[in-house]
Amino acid sequence: MPHLPSPAFTIVPHPEPVPDAQRADRLVDPGFGRVFTDHMVTIQYSAGRGWHDAAVGRRAPITLDPACAVFHYAQEIFEGLKAYRDDDGRALLFRPMENARRFRQSAERLAMPLLPESLFVEALERLVRIDAAWIPEGDGSLYLRPFMIATETFLGVKPSSTYLFSVIASPVGSYFRSARSALAVWVSQDYSRAGPGGTGAAKCGGNYAASLLAQAEAIAHGCDQVAFLDAAERRWVEELGGMNIFFVFNDGAIRTPAVGGTILRGITRSAILTLARARGLEVREEPYALEAWREDARSGRLREVFACGTAAVVAAIGQVRTPQGDFIVGDGQEGPLTGSLRAELTDIQRGRSGDPHGWTHPVP
Ligand code: PLP
Ligand code: COI
Repeated sequence: MPHLPSPAFTIVPHPEPVPDAQRADRLVDPGFGRVFTDHMVTIQYSAGRGWHDAAVGRRAPITLDPACAVFHYAQEIFEGLKAYRDDDGRALLFRPMENARRFRQSAERLAMPLLPESLFVEALERLVRIDAAWIPEGDGSLYLRPFMIATETFLGVKPSSTYLFSVIASPVGSYFRSARSALAVWVSQDYSRAGPGGTGAAKCGGNYAASLLAQAEAIAHGCDQVAFLDAAERRWVEELGGMNIFFVFNDGAIRTPAVGGTILRGITRSAILTLARARGLEVREEPYALEAWREDARSGRLREVFACGTAAVVAAIGQVRTPQGDFIVGDGQEGPLTGSLRAELTDIQRGRSGDPHGWTHPVP
């Protein structure tokens, strides 16, 4: 595909946006992913025309033919990032170019067209600008969900020739409803999220579909999240259903599994690595076995474990349940490093402290 100029956006504001008082009500305790803003972005793609018909308009259902490719072969990718309101009322995005880059990598893996990074970021900025009143005050944020689906009406198995890129937005509070101060995770023995050569490093809906039965098993065992082991040996801890994982040891070192194609390269993960290194902590990206996790928790060598991701932010893991028995990390509560890394990260994201790494992106 030759490089075509990015399309200009048509902007048609919603004629009847949610009234102020109703919006204020919905922002009080939005939970995660159930409240939506007034608008959405859509951009079409076809092999002949490239990206075209970029629009910001009212949020509305998408009508597709029942034979549309995405319904049958799951050619779909997405991203997740948040807009925050700082004390001066500005909207801040956190490292949106990283999401733009990962979206392109996911597109490549799913045989989809590559959206220019500048167009991805422009789409986010336009939606945040028009729906700025939906960014919650306080600890909340506006979760942005860019996604791309295959739209060709055809049942043959091949990459679609047409696509829809869209961005929707959802004001959110905490991802976890649980009253616990630390999460409980269930280590899945029977199900894998990703395997060598598969799509584990891509953010595609199919990975989440594959995780749902294991997540349901986690819930049935009284846990908040499922933790996956590697598919080949079922020995090495990889990540959770929707978060990366970190281990904190009594010698001050922290460790997270290296991303080798089966783990999502989290943007929060990368930020935590940078913050920890800047504190002078020893940081290792290397494999960690479930049995070492159990033994180190028992001996006290392992002090803290936490999950991290856009939706979850940084969340302590206190209890681990496995078919071979349960164990507790530390005293089962959030540890000090987990809390202080979360505070440092969220202060940067919300513009409350300096931005030494150039991560915040004010929406112009
Ligand atoms: N791993 C999985 C499977 C995820 O769904 C997510 C969430 O996006 C992450 C890790 C963390 O990625 P990020 O920090 O970029 O949100
Ligand atoms: C995110 O954190 O953005 C995700 O996509 C993970 C999902 C659990 C909501």
